[in-house]
Amino acid sequence: MWRRCWRRRGLAAACLGTALLLLLCAAPRALGPAFGNRALGSSWLGGERRSPLQKLYDLDQDPLTALAEVHRQRRDLLNSACSRHTRRQRLLQPEDLRHVLVDDTHGLLYCYVPKVACTNWKRVLLALSGKARGDPRAIPAHEAHAPGRLPSLADFSPAEINRRLRAYLTFLFVREPFERLASAYRNKLARPYSADFQRRYGARIVQRLRPRALPVARARGHDVRFAEFLAYLLDPRTRREEPFNEHWERAHALCHPCRLRYDVVGKFETLADDAAFVLALAGAPDLSFPAPPRPRAAAASQDLAARLFRDISPFYQRRLFDLYKMDFLLFNYSAPSYLRLH
Ligand SMILES: *[C@@H]1O[C@H](CO)[C@@H](O)[C@H](O)[C@H]1NC(C)=O
Repeated sequence: MWRRCWRRRGLAAACLGTALLLLLCAAPRALGPAFGNRALGSSWLGGERRSPLQKLYDLDQDPLTALAEVHRQRRDLLNSACSRHTRRQRLLQPEDLRHVLVDDTHGLLYCYVPKVACTNWKRVLLALSGKARGDPRAIPAHEAHAPGRLPSLADFSPAEINRRLRAYLTFLFVREPFERLASAYRNKLARPYSADFQRRYGARIVQRLRPRALPVARARGHDVRFAEFLAYLLDPRTRREEPFNEHWERAHALCHPCRLRYDVVGKFETLADDAAFVLALAGAPDLSFPAPPRPRAAAASQDLAARLFRDISPFYQRRLFDLYKMDFLLFNYSAPSYLRLH
């Protein structure tokens, strides 16, 4: 045991040296027995309580509950898909961790993926960390999204980042990639709450991809068709100019699941159960996650994707599937049956 601790400490010391070592420190690791005894064990909330990560480790030791077993399998699948499908990768920089939000009170790191209940997760984190009072549902969306309201891991020094990556429970929530994409198209371009995205992205899409567009469409970008949106995503100029907007950027590119260790991979499709699992580990089982989607809404989301993709040629379907393939593979989604890939 001693030797093991020392080895870990040696590794920790190496990690703190420089920002470029983030990769080393953040590499997926199994939860080992030495884990509970490390520095945090004694300092965690005065040593009174088990941290969420320690609780997850406890669950993995005991006869597993069904839900804990599901999450263990998802972790295993992610790890093996990562080793199968990723090559040598560049090292992570702090800025790569912009989407990872920090709750120091409970010891949580949450990587948010837009269109996967992230507003509600931000509300819950605000409530958990005491930055907002009362029922998370009552927190206005704009407040949940206000920059800086929840600290991002990217804002810490490399040493502080590494410390949190080692000791905190790290989780993300993902969703079937094409349902997420269809949802982004609908909420941001087809039927948006505000005209921001139409002006910012819609107008650009029309100007670039629609020959002889009407002046009103070029200015407002209000009537972008799904096929045009997909053509914009596949156009090499798009990502040369700037990274994809976070609403359609691939989850793996936002959260780096092959370089950070994720303890819980939550899914939109099982949001209520997975959220309850995380909240129980966080020591807040009474906090209820706001309004997970009802079965009918889930079916509607599937239908929307199927309907939108029906009019897309097999050639574009295949290219789009390739673009989002890593999200399908890493998070165990199969190619939707409505696609014509062959
Ligand atoms: C992966 O998906 C398949 C098919 O939906 C399912 O049977 C299996 O349990 C999933 N595995 C994990 C680890 O989630």
